[in-house]
Amino acid sequence: MSAATGPSTTRLVPPAERPLIEARDLYKRYRLSRQHFFKPAPTVLAVDGVSFKVAPGSTFGLVGESGSGKTTVAKMLLKLEPPSAGTLLVDGMDIFAQDRAAERAYRSKVQAVLQDPYGALSPRLTVGRIIAEPLVAQGRMSWKQGEARAAGLMDMVGLRSDGLHKYPHEFSGGQRQRIAIARALSVDPHIIVLDESVSALDVSVRAQILKLLEDVQRKLGVTYLFIGHDLAIVRYMSTDVGVMYLGQLVEIGTAAQVFNRPLHPYTRQLVAAGSADTPIRPLGAGGELPSPINPPSGCRFHTRCPHATALCAQQAPALREIDSGHQARCHHIEQIAA
Ligand SMILES: Nc1ncnc2c1ncn2[C@@H]1O[C@H](COP(=O)(O)OP(=O)(O)OP(=O)(O)O)[C@@H](O)[C@H]1O
Ligand SMILES: [Mg+2]
Repeated sequence: MSAATGPSTTRLVPPAERPLIEARDLYKRYRLSRQHFFKPAPTVLAVDGVSFKVAPGSTFGLVGESGSGKTTVAKMLLKLEPPSAGTLLVDGMDIFAQDRAAERAYRSKVQAVLQDPYGALSPRLTVGRIIAEPLVAQGRMSWKQGEARAAGLMDMVGLRSDGLHKYPHEFSGGQRQRIAIARALSVDPHIIVLDESVSALDVSVRAQILKLLEDVQRKLGVTYLFIGHDLAIVRYMSTDVGVMYLGQLVEIGTAAQVFNRPLHPYTRQLVAAGSADTPIRPLGAGGELPSPINPPSGCRFHTRCPHATALCAQQAPALREIDSGHQARCHHIEQIAA
């Protein structure tokens, strides 16, 4: 494609070595409502300098406690929120420098399946319409054509096509999540954001939906951003994993590297607990959980870290590579490992 056609079509990275998604030093700051007339409104740095690459057809997992910034990263990829700084490249193109046509094309390339399928599925539309709706809205098909395509998608997600004329409330939670997946697939996306997509489901249903997501990826080569709290599930699904703490990536690597040989003290504690839901006991003065509105100085994790030294309170560690592709943000990794 020619670089002369404008910013939306300018490829910044040559195709051969190009990841499908590349976040470069992303920041997202939210302004909160003002607490005091004479003081500036507080802000929260929800995402603080996040960089990662995702290969086409792979799954990038994001784990971390509630409020660590996972959904904010997902919202930027979905173009629901612009970053405060940094660049988000998809297929080598800056998604926040697109013209209207490129933006419309991008919105169908990136879809989401969220935690609560019931909230996402309109209760007054039949399932056939729900699945066909994105295609019709984009002007690609008539309702009739869209509903014919919906039948094929129902089959792909393991539902009987006679369900096309039913309403969402007539289905179980797992079935509704299958409908949400069919709807996401209707526009042939290249990327699907799975933000806690199986977290609300019973254990047995969860396994079936994970299996379906795997099958879909194998058949269609779609790339996933998979966000979750349950480490076993994130490990099972992910090719690569990023661990977030108070807006920053503290560790990144292949799923095997991160889970078999966690480097960062936070990741070590998560892996030992098995879930990012299990609260890690704060070690800081007053036992307060640190907040992204007023994050600790130096290393963000130092108030809860059993290995913290004076250096950790003063100086923020950089994310550095310890093994090939395995990076962690800690001053003392070598000593901890020894
Ligand atoms: N629209 C917003 N306005 C103000 N603050 C926000 C907004 N959205 C998110 N935040 C704050 O940004 C931080 C990161 O939130 P985010 O939803 O990305 O976390 P998360 O890792 O997805 O958490 P969870 O696991 O609970 O879903 C939190 O402190 C949150 O309160
Ligand atoms: Mg979230």
